[in-house]
Amino acid sequence: MAAIPKEKPSRIDEARAQFARYKADVKARGKPFYPYAMFHDTIMSLVVVCVIIGLAAMWKWSAWGPGHDPTHKGLLGPEVDPPADPGTTSFVPRPDWYFYFLFYLLRIFKWPESVFLGTIGVPTIALILLIGLPFLDRRRERRLSARPVAMVAAVLTVLSMAVLTWKGATANEALASEVIADVPHWVQVENLPSNALPGAKLFATAGCTACHTYAGAGGSNLGAPDLTDIGTRNLGIDFQIRHLQCPSCVNPGSPMPHFASLGNERLHQLAVFLEASKGAH
Ligand code: HEC
Repeated sequence: MAAIPKEKPSRIDEARAQFARYKADVKARGKPFYPYAMFHDTIMSLVVVCVIIGLAAMWKWSAWGPGHDPTHKGLLGPEVDPPADPGTTSFVPRPDWYFYFLFYLLRIFKWPESVFLGTIGVPTIALILLIGLPFLDRRRERRLSARPVAMVAAVLTVLSMAVLTWKGATANEALASEVIADVPHWVQVENLPSNALPGAKLFATAGCTACHTYAGAGGSNLGAPDLTDIGTRNLGIDFQIRHLQCPSCVNPGSPMPHFASLGNERLHQLAVFLEASKGAH
């Protein structure tokens, strides 16, 4: 009787044997989770909590300073910042630094076609890949040099986030002082009457150009329309003021922030400017 040829062990058999070796190894040399790993984790958690409590105490006591002055700058910042000014016209909204990379993605992906892909799609896909990684990569190899694909992917991810963070940090947000330099150009191309000038200056400084383009200036965000020839629609001073006071009241669902805090006089100036904007010639 011919001997049955010995089959090559299948991959499953190989994995099983490897797992058995691993179990035997753990039994011979490993330590049980309880109490060893648990003790380890408890100590580390305690250290983290102590550091947080320490920082909080340092902030509080150093901020109090001499004579309990709440605006005194301590080691880790003042206890309270000065109150926010709702009428500010020079504020350039920026996220905290750890969101700069997402913030910069918003500049690469343009509203509305690809913004969802850029801000929700890309991070979600990256997270799903991360969660799926243990199921995709089942090798036991842990040496970095033996994992070129994972290494390249990790380096590329860190690099692209670093570059995006850096680009976001140095992004040239059009400052109000820069947009206002365009006002004479607007007056010229739009043939603006002199009573529209205060409104034009306000428009350049109140943050409108963060979302709206006007005669080539500003950036378009959130789907805000170009306002170069908004006046040709003859919406009326009254409508403009009501819209600025509460955009979503007159255009339901409008994501434009309300500007009621500018006060009636300035809203009127803005409305005059908008109605006088009959398009660039
Ligand atoms: C955060 C983004 C954002 C800012 C800042 C912003 N807008 Fe808008 N604006 C929008 C969007 C989005 C729309 C479209 C929805 C709507 O009509 O309300 C819009 C619409 C408008 C319209 C057209 C209204 C209509 O019925 O067609 C005018 C006029 C306007 N904005 C003026 C201004 C002025 C003036 C400022 C500054 C004081 C300003 N916007 C600031 C986002 C913005």
